[in-house]
Amino acid sequence: KMRAAITGVAGYVPSYVLTNDELATMVDTNDEWITERTGIKERRILKGEEKGTSILGIEATKRLLEKTNTSPEEVDLLICCTVTGDMPFPATANIISAEVGIKNAFSYDLNAACSGFLYGLVTGAQFVQSGTYKKVIVVGADKMSSIVDYQDRTTCILFGDGAGAVMLEPTEGENGIMDFYLRSDGAGEPYLNMPAGGSRKPASHQTVENREHYAKQDGRTVFKFAVTHMAEAAAKVMEENKLTGDDIAFLVPHQANKRIIDATARRMDIGDEKVMLNIQRYGNTTSGTIPLCLVDYENQLKKGDNLILAAFGGGFTWGAVYVKW
Ligand code: ACO
Repeated sequence: KMRAAITGVAGYVPSYVLTNDELATMVDTNDEWITERTGIKERRILKGEEKGTSILGIEATKRLLEKTNTSPEEVDLLICCTVTGDMPFPATANIISAEVGIKNAFSYDLNAACSGFLYGLVTGAQFVQSGTYKKVIVVGADKMSSIVDYQDRTTCILFGDGAGAVMLEPTEGENGIMDFYLRSDGAGEPYLNMPAGGSRKPASHQTVENREHYAKQDGRTVFKFAVTHMAEAAAKVMEENKLTGDDIAFLVPHQANKRIIDATARRMDIGDEKVMLNIQRYGNTTSGTIPLCLVDYENQLKKGDNLILAAFGGGFTWGAVYVKW
């Protein structure tokens, strides 16, 4: 059976570092609280007028093409997972493709909030497994600073900007995207959303005044949901494939809160040394977290390693993907 394998990873984060101490000058918070409750020490912010998410995605994609020695003309499809597209339309994927010279392809955006990258990975893999395409790029990119309210201490400490990208290609070996479990439940909509700017509540003076163009969440509800469902998804995929904690080389979790990650690792019965972690440096970059982890840990990965990628996010959306490296 043909599978889709991840044959390259690359990432990009902007250079500006927003520390906990700087945030403490903007809202009533402090480094100790943020570190203890979330594990985050700093995050990256894309500065500059009129610079959108595409800038992050373009850099990550350029690096991926270079690293995998791929000419942009060879690429069949580019999927950009994001909730912070440059504009409602056209798709940011189209903008990225044009800028990097991907011409013989189609491209589209996919919105599954923090589970975006997993949804994109599984979607992209289908085109490869079916034998339709040979080179599919999945980008996870978000400029969260564009929808974060820097007057709201319960959200502004969590998020950062960044992007990661992977190349998917066919393999007949024993590696690749082996299995997945993805779910969504729109009943979660009130607990994590951006209320205005869509068709339900188009932008108006009122929506701006009410600060409704920012991401809102009920932190405790989201936390509880995440702790249960991310672990459950990981456990399902492991069970289905008869994997125990010992068989897993790494858990690659969405980086939203260190405490949520720890709970997932415990449920999977794996030690801290098997958990990819960069939340301390980047915070929650939404669709960027998982590919950015793969970039950071790439040197430690060996052929045949079993990885469990797991995420949850707005929607609610959640899931896990089993990848053999
Ligand atoms: N600094 C200092 N104090 C704070 C801060 C802050 N930045 N934020 C909140 N507090 C206060 C609260 O006001 C509260 O005070 P009170 O007890 O006087 O009311 C107290 O700290 C405790 O607040 P909780 O909300 O109970 O704190 P909790 O331990 O739950 O941590 C957090 C809050 C970090 C937001 C947590 O709930 C969380 O991580 N939730 C999940 C959020 C998440 O992952 N969101 C992203 C989803 S992915 C996507 O799709 C975008």
